[in-house]
Amino acid sequence: MDILKLLEEDHKRIVQKINRLPGSLLKARQNLDALLSLSEDLEKELSRHEKIEDLVFFPVLQGKVSDQSLQSLIDEHNESKKVRDLFMTAIAEIKSLGDTSPPEKIKEMSGHGYKLMRILSTHFTREDQLLFPIAKSMLTKEQSEDLWKQTQAYL
Ligand SMILES: [Fe+2]
Ligand SMILES: [Fe+2]
Repeated sequence: MDILKLLEEDHKRIVQKINRLPGSLLKARQNLDALLSLSEDLEKELSRHEKIEDLVFFPVLQGKVSDQSLQSLIDEHNESKKVRDLFMTAIAEIKSLGDTSPPEKIKEMSGHGYKLMRILSTHFTREDQLLFPIAKSMLTKEQSEDLWKQTQAYL
């Protein structure tokens, strides 16, 4: 295994989960627990994935990719985290209100879910199509081995 393979596999797995979001959002009232567990699962996956990128993967690309590109990817991680927090807080609020939760609350919560989908779709595309190919062409075998060693701390 190497870091690029791990990150690419993460993307595929996370996209599969993200694709279940619209259906789960539509059934939020009938099955809030399913939405809650999907959102918790996504949070766990994304926070680990972003940590590996921010702390291990992006630093090695400094100088190979413009600072601006790296910074905007880091900004997108922060934005994604902010929206995930709002999303999960809204779900918890609806759970505590139970059957009395007003439709606007559900709508607001769904809005966060859809926003998260949009952020991740752009973000993953940029990483898959721009960043990963650059990394693939520049990383030496030694660098890959070193990155993989560093990654272990987050697995
Ligand atoms: Fe990322
Ligand atoms: Fe990523």
